[in-house]
Amino acid sequence: MVNKSSWFAPKEVPYICIENVTKRFGGFVAVDNVSLEIHRGELFSLLGPSGCGKTTLLRMLAGLETPSEGRILVDGQDTTNIPPYDRPVNMMFQSYALFPHMTVEKNVAFGLRQDNMPPHDIDARAKEMLELVQLMNFAKRKPAQLSGGQRQRVALARSLAKYPKLLLLDEPLAALDKKLREQTQFELMNIQEKTGVTFIVVTHDQEEAMTLSTRIAVMNDGVIRQVGTPSEVYEFPNTRYVADFVGSINLFEGDVTDSPDTEHVTIRSEEVAVEFKLDAFVELPIGAKVAVAIRPEKIAISKDKPEQEENICRGKVDEIAYQGSLSIYQVELPGGKLVRVTAPNLTRTAERPIDWDEEVWLCWGRHAGVVLSD
Ligand SMILES: Nc1ncnc2c1ncn2[C@@H]1O[C@H](COP(=O)(O)OP(=O)(O)OP(=O)(O)O)[C@@H](O)[C@H]1O
Ligand SMILES: [Mg+2]
Repeated sequence: MVNKSSWFAPKEVPYICIENVTKRFGGFVAVDNVSLEIHRGELFSLLGPSGCGKTTLLRMLAGLETPSEGRILVDGQDTTNIPPYDRPVNMMFQSYALFPHMTVEKNVAFGLRQDNMPPHDIDARAKEMLELVQLMNFAKRKPAQLSGGQRQRVALARSLAKYPKLLLLDEPLAALDKKLREQTQFELMNIQEKTGVTFIVVTHDQEEAMTLSTRIAVMNDGVIRQVGTPSEVYEFPNTRYVADFVGSINLFEGDVTDSPDTEHVTIRSEEVAVEFKLDAFVELPIGAKVAVAIRPEKIAISKDKPEQEENICRGKVDEIAYQGSLSIYQVELPGGKLVRVTAPNLTRTAERPIDWDEEVWLCWGRHAGVVLSD
């Protein structure tokens, strides 16, 4: 069985070691000195905007591109001179190309036939894979007779058919609508748990990365900005870039006015009338320029003045977006700063709903914010 917490065990030898890998195309650096360790049984996501080097990194893992510098070890073995077909790796491409003239079944079995597996075993394996992706009743159809989501699952079944140890998925769910996407995300996690395969998934969708992954690497301009579990990356982003890219966040620029020890800090920001008093890890001198990052759900909004004395300010409701389970408020502070606040809609009709242009109070706790210096 997969050891679900193996990536927290620093002594365990990682399954994949990417060591200082750089990829240049002419003078252009697509992947810039990337180092990563990925453990067996992980569902590891590479998350980043378009053009940041995700596919290029995946292609190097698959052996379809050669690193300009650095090396990649799989299971302790340097893969530099191992051709793609000899690697225990399969890749599902960004534009997963199914063979249009073949049935679903034949598509799934394609790689097995290439490998000259005995026909009886091929049939059994294809059946197993179709069961896994719940497409048993579609075995005889051609890709054109399937929905986009079903096609995607055929591609997934095909890439799993050879029991690869490592499966690289490039934007595997990009073609699906929101609902099917969520459903398939859960299927993917199930498949991962059933097969124990190590998955590396490329996505530019942060919600998807959060849902699927054991860990996420946030990439930008060929560089890895942060690696961590979904909650680490969300709750403790290490830079303004990661804070902003993963989910929505309020950033208040300011400077440190007091920091008696590494766990308590006071920050003054021109953007808010009050000082931020936070219990956050900070090792910065007084006067250091920082940003306080607070997620919208960590700020409370109310019509009545909250009881707390610190970390409280006034504002005026500028926008309200009703989203069913929650509402998003955009609140304008006296200096003009816009703050985003989300609040769950707990009752069907709020007794005194907060309205547009209404004066409100915002408040947050000492643990609500992260202090960022980069
Ligand atoms: N063969 C190539 N020759 C030259 N430049 C390339 C080549 N392949 C990729 N690039 C460039 O390298 C950068 C990274 O490309 P890559 O395909 O890895 O991005 P990506 O993160 O997968 O983006 P997307 O989310 O749009 O798929 C891009 O600027 C791209 O134009
Ligand atoms: Mg890509």
